[in-house]
Amino acid sequence: MRGKFITIEGVEGVGKSTNIAHLKHLLESNGIDYAITREPGGTPLAEKIRGLLLAVDDEPLSVLAELLLVFAARAQHLERFIKPQLDAGIWVLCDRFTDATFAYQGAGRGLDAKTIATLQELVQNGLRPDLTIILDLDPVVGMQRATERGALDRFELEQIEFFRRVRQCYLNIAAREPNRCAVIDASRSLAEVEKSLLSTVRQRLDLK
Ligand code: TMP
Repeated sequence: MRGKFITIEGVEGVGKSTNIAHLKHLLESNGIDYAITREPGGTPLAEKIRGLLLAVDDEPLSVLAELLLVFAARAQHLERFIKPQLDAGIWVLCDRFTDATFAYQGAGRGLDAKTIATLQELVQNGLRPDLTIILDLDPVVGMQRATERGALDRFELEQIEFFRRVRQCYLNIAAREPNRCAVIDASRSLAEVEKSLLSTVRQRLDLK
């Protein structure tokens, strides 16, 4: 049977890594074969593209070049990693996917959602996550956490308004696609977020 494709999204500093670790344990305790990956990135070549996207450079990256690099990395990741794993029955847990493109390049940078949807169709050919977890947090809190972690990348240097648009876009996507998306309030204690995440995923994917 084909593996399930789970993605996890949210603004910077929302706690994706911690919650991915919880999901990893859940899959393990259910005896499921899984792979953890991330976007942009996930293959050696796509990780090089990630480097281009996150680096703060003297030459500003154009908004369109940014979008195309995101999808170039995604095309490579899908062909070389995600699709073969799913076809082999392995579940794929991916730290960000195309919802991040609608949120960051669309709502954040102001690119037309139709343009993004066109590239989505070209690159993914109908492939969508089975479940998307959206960790929701006020970006002011998220950016405080991200700043405490160390040097900021090219996206993290954006103003708070940019991340407010990103957050709102994620919430809009979740409202439009409630069957695929689950919003988890990440402003609560770590233990409460974990509990809510695990019960949601158990219920949605019929796990124990
Ligand atoms: P990360 O910090 O969660 O690893 O993600 C790297 C950055 O890449 C994050 O700031 C969001 C950004 N990003 C986009 O702008 N568009 C995308 O499609 C993806 C997947 C990530």
